[in-house]
Amino acid sequence: MTEIDAQTKLLGIIGWPVEHSLSPTMHNAAFAALGLNWVYLPLPVPPGQVEAALRGLLTLGFRGANVTVPHKEAVMPHLDSITEVAQAIGAVNTLVVGEGRLVGDNTDGAGFLAALQEAGFEPRGRRALVLGAGGAARAVAYALATAGAQVTVLNRTLSRTEALIQHLAPAVPPNSLSPRLLDRDALVEEAVRADLLVNATSVGMWPDAEHSPWPDELPLPSHLTVFDLVYNPPETRLLRQARRAGAQAIGGLGMLVHQGALAFRLWTGHSPPLEAMWTACERALTAGEAQNCPDAGSVV
Ligand code: ATR
Repeated sequence: MTEIDAQTKLLGIIGWPVEHSLSPTMHNAAFAALGLNWVYLPLPVPPGQVEAALRGLLTLGFRGANVTVPHKEAVMPHLDSITEVAQAIGAVNTLVVGEGRLVGDNTDGAGFLAALQEAGFEPRGRRALVLGAGGAARAVAYALATAGAQVTVLNRTLSRTEALIQHLAPAVPPNSLSPRLLDRDALVEEAVRADLLVNATSVGMWPDAEHSPWPDELPLPSHLTVFDLVYNPPETRLLRQARRAGAQAIGGLGMLVHQGALAFRLWTGHSPPLEAMWTACERALTAGEAQNCPDAGSVV
């Protein structure tokens, strides 16, 4: 690792809590791999302190930061500008500092798409089911709809799905998103005609690892590609069900790495060392360092 000195460039992640975030491990591994004199710090910021924290980032000469739960929306009124994508998703996960100005961006949706495409799934013209209606679901539904997929968003609270769709509608192709209440009948009916199933709920995430959004007694269609945004545990119950059924199963680590890689490029201008980032996350997860991930979707 490069020695920290007066030239070291600063990055970090603001959230509450942030102790268990994998992002410091992932980005510091990337700097080490490329021999860059940058450092990435966990920055715990309690609710209500967001504006002060953002001022602090500027004052202390930070080059940027990630933003995670519960601040992804709270930072927005305090930024100098917000990219179109972050505006459309309605959340900021990446801050870039340029000439003393704070720009808010969102790499979650593009990170998800990169991971999906890396696994060989091209969304254009395909039917996708997104389970959940929180921030993670919003980023994923936006990414899929703008990439040309037909998306049904299912959530156990229908009003949240409707709010999600209303929010995204102006930014996605007309009629590319439809809402549906998440229950067994809907799941079975929709899954038969879908190509992709994405779990953007927190079901199955540590310490809830025994659960899956797919009921055990229902056969999971083998033609589906199943993407679980949960990366802790790396092998969720849903992924095991998918593999057992002969379906393609994709874990959440790829999205974590790709959203980080996109942010890394924005900050440093360097090509992100994906393999080093992936290995660092995997190692930290197996070592149990990140057992209590604050959520599955806000992947930083
Ligand atoms: P995030 O911003 O990370 O997506 P969130 O806003 O807390 O997190 O959203 C969590 C999602 O998981 C929600 O869609 C939630 O459903 P509700 O909107 O009905 O609360 C979903 N979820 C959590 N526990 C669930 C469960 N046991 N069954 C089904 N959905 C669940």
